[in-house]
Amino acid sequence: MKNRAILFTLFLLYVMVPASSRGVGHHKHTNRCPEAENIVKFVVEKAMNDTPGIGAGLIRLLFHDCFVGGCDGSVLLDPSDRNPEPEKIAAKNLGLRGFEVIDEAKRLLEIFCPHVVSCADILAFAARDAAEILNGARYNVSAGRLDGKVSSAAEAEKNLPPPTFNLEELQDLFVNKKNLTTEDLVVLSGAHTIGRSHCSSFTKRLNPNIDPTLDQEFAINTLQPLCPPYANADGVAHLDYATPVELDSQYYKNVLDRKTVFFSDWSLLTSNETRDLVVQYATKPGDWEADFAVSMAKLSTLDVITDRKKGEIRRCCRSVNY
Ligand code: HEM
Ligand SMILES: *[C@@H]1O[C@H](CO)[C@@H](O)[C@H](O)[C@H]1NC(C)=O
Ligand SMILES: *[C@@H]1O[C@H](CO)[C@@H](O)[C@H](O)[C@H]1NC(C)=O
Ligand SMILES: *[C@@H]1O[C@H](CO)[C@@H](O)[C@H](O)[C@H]1NC(C)=O
Repeated sequence: MKNRAILFTLFLLYVMVPASSRGVGHHKHTNRCPEAENIVKFVVEKAMNDTPGIGAGLIRLLFHDCFVGGCDGSVLLDPSDRNPEPEKIAAKNLGLRGFEVIDEAKRLLEIFCPHVVSCADILAFAARDAAEILNGARYNVSAGRLDGKVSSAAEAEKNLPPPTFNLEELQDLFVNKKNLTTEDLVVLSGAHTIGRSHCSSFTKRLNPNIDPTLDQEFAINTLQPLCPPYANADGVAHLDYATPVELDSQYYKNVLDRKTVFFSDWSLLTSNETRDLVVQYATKPGDWEADFAVSMAKLSTLDVITDRKKGEIRRCCRSVNY
C-alpha cells in the first residue's frame, strides 16, 4: 500500500513538473532520466520525515564513500562470498546509517529509468538534498559517477580519519591525500553540527581523567551521564549539544568553547590559520553556510570513476553486477 502511494505520487510529480524545470541541465542523464533528481529528493524527504537523524547519516555516508576509493558507491556494498570484508564492516564505519534510503531511491529509479543512474550519483544527490532540507544552501551535483567494483574494509581503515587525529594528521589526509584544502577541512568538519556519536568514539576523553581539551563542566554534566562507565550498551550523544538538529554554524562556537565530543574537532584551534577560520564561522552569520555548499560540492567530485572498464551502473546498490 505504502509503495503504491509513493509510485502514484511520483507519477503525479512526473506529469505536473514541467520538463524544462527537471534537473539542472548539465547532467549526463538529464535526457535519459529527467526525473532522477526529483525522485531522489522525494525519497530523502520522506525518509527524513520518518526517521530524524537520517539526514546526518546521509551526509556522513557521502564523506565515507568519497574518501575511500572516490565517490563510487563502494561504501554501499554488503559483505558477500566473493568479498566478505567490504568497507561497510570497517570499525571506522561504526554507526553509518541511511543505506535504506539509497536502496529505496534505487528501487524507484530502476522502475522509471532502468540502468541509468548509478548508486554513487544517488548518494551524492541524497547528501545534497539532506543538507538542503536541513536548510543548507543547495548546490549543483553533476551526474556521471560510475559505481566501483572494489570495496575493502582495510582501505576504509586507512583512508578515514579517527576522532583522535591531531591537526597535522587531519591536514595530511585532507590536503596531501585528497585534493582538498585546509579551509575545506575546517568547513566540512562543521557537518558535526548535526547527528550523533556513539560513546565509544570519545569515552577515552572522559575516563579515567577528563581530557584538558574538553570543557570540564560540559564533560561532567552533559557527556558523562550519557556515557556511564561499564554501561552494557554503547550510548549516543549529539555532536552539537546546543542545536543538535540544525545545520548551522553553532559547531564553531562549540569548538571555541571546548564543547565538542572529538579531539579532532578541538584540534582545529591549534593553528592560527584554522583557528581564524573557526572564529570567522562562529561569528559571521552566513559565511559557513555558503562555504559548506562549496566544499560539499567539491567532496562530491573526489576521484570519480567515469571509465566503463573500471565502473558500472549497479542494479542493486548493495552488490556488484554479475
Ligand atoms: C575531520 C575529520 C572527521 C572525523 C575524525 C570524524 C569522525 C566522526 C565520528 C567518530 C563520528 C561518530 C561515529 C559514531 O560513533 O557513530 C562522526 C559522525 C558524523 N560525521 Fe564525522 N568526522 C570527520 C569529518 C566529517 C566530515 C568531513 C563530514 C561530512 C562532510 C562528517 C559528517 C559527520 C556526520 C553528519 C556525523 C553524524 C552521523 C549520524 O548522526 O549518523 N564528518 N564523525
Ligand atoms: C546550478 O545550475 C543551474 C543550472 O545550470 C544554474 O542556474 C545555477 O546558477 C547553479 N547554481 C550554483 C550554486 O552553481
Ligand atoms: C583538485 O581540485 C581542484 C580545485 O577544486 C580541481 O580544479 C582539480 O580538477 C582537482 N584535481 C583532481 C586531480 O581531481
Ligand atoms: C599566530 O598568531 C599569534 C598572535 O595571534 C602570533 O603571535 C604568532 O606569531 C602567529 N603564529 C604564526 C605561525 O603565524
